[in-house]
Amino acid sequence: MPQGKKIALITGANKGIGFEIARQLGEQGMHILVGARKQTQGDEAARRLESEGIEAFAVQLDVVNQSTVEAVAHMLEETYAKLDVLVNNAAIISPEKALPSSLSLAALRTTYETNVFGTFAMTQAMVPLLQRSEAGRIVNMSSGLASLGIISGAAPEILMAFNLAYCSSKTMVNAMTIFFAKELQQTGIKVNAADPGAVATEMNPTASRTPQQGAKVAVHLATLPDDGPTGGFFDENGVQPW
Ligand SMILES: NC(=O)c1ccc[n+]([C@@H]2O[C@H](COP(=O)([O-])OP(=O)(O)OC[C@H]3O[C@@H](n4cnc5c(N)ncnc54)[C@H](OP(=O)(O)O)[C@@H]3O)[C@@H](O)[C@H]2O)c1
Repeated sequence: MPQGKKIALITGANKGIGFEIARQLGEQGMHILVGARKQTQGDEAARRLESEGIEAFAVQLDVVNQSTVEAVAHMLEETYAKLDVLVNNAAIISPEKALPSSLSLAALRTTYETNVFGTFAMTQAMVPLLQRSEAGRIVNMSSGLASLGIISGAAPEILMAFNLAYCSSKTMVNAMTIFFAKELQQTGIKVNAADPGAVATEMNPTASRTPQQGAKVAVHLATLPDDGPTGGFFDENGVQPW
C-alpha cells in the first residue's frame, strides 16, 4: 500500500496518450495503475515508468470484458480500499472510413462497445472506490469530433475521415460525463471530458501534436482543486462547446 499517495488508474495506458497521462500523473507523485488489455504490454509500460522513478503497476484490463473490469475493482478494494483518479482513455476507431450510408452496423457496435459501454462499465465499477477518495476525479477522453457544435460546422471530408461511429461514440462520452457529474455533484467527485487535440499516435498517425501535449488537459482535469469545475468539456485552452 503506497502510504499517502494518490492512486490513479488509466485505461489503455500501455501506449499513446494514455501512457503519457500515466507518466505525467506519476511525475506528480501518484501511484500509477497502468490499465492494459495485454498484461505483457502493461508490464512493459510499467517498467518504463519505473525506470523514470515513477511508482507504476500494470493491471490487465479490457474495458469490454466485464470480468476484467470487476477483477480490477476487486483488486483495488483489497489493495488500496479506494481510487483517487480514473482516466477513461481506452478507445478504438474503426478502420472503416465509410460514409454514414454505407458504414456497417458492426463497425458502429464494435466502436460503441469499447468507447461508450467500456467507459460506462469502468465508471460504474469505480465510483464506489472513488467515493472513498478525498478528491475523486474522473476524466473521460473525448475529442473535438464529439462536439455537435464543432462537427456541424466542419467540412464533410474531415468528418468522413474519422467516421460516424467514432465521432458519435465520443458524443456519447460527453453525455455520460454530464450525467455522472450531476449524479456525483454532492460527493466531491469531479467528472470532466478532455479533448487532447489531434495527436500523433497509432490512432491518428498523421497528426501534428505530441502525446506529451495531448496528455496535458487530462492531467489538469485529473488534478483539479476542490473548487474546480465538474461536468465540463475542455481542451488545453479552456472550455469546448458541446
Ligand atoms: N490521437 C488523437 O488525435 C486523439 C484525438 C482526440 C481524442 N483522442 C482520444 O484519446 C484517447 C487515446 O488515444 P490514442 O491516440 O492514444 O490511441 P492509441 O494510441 O490507439 O491508444 C489507445 C489505447 O486504448 C487501448 N484500448 C483499446 N481498446 C481497449 C479495450 N477494449 N480495453 C482496454 N484498452 C483498450 C489500446 O490498447 P491496445 O494497445 O491493446 O490496442 C491503447 O492502449 C482515446 O480515447 C482517443 O479517442 C485521440
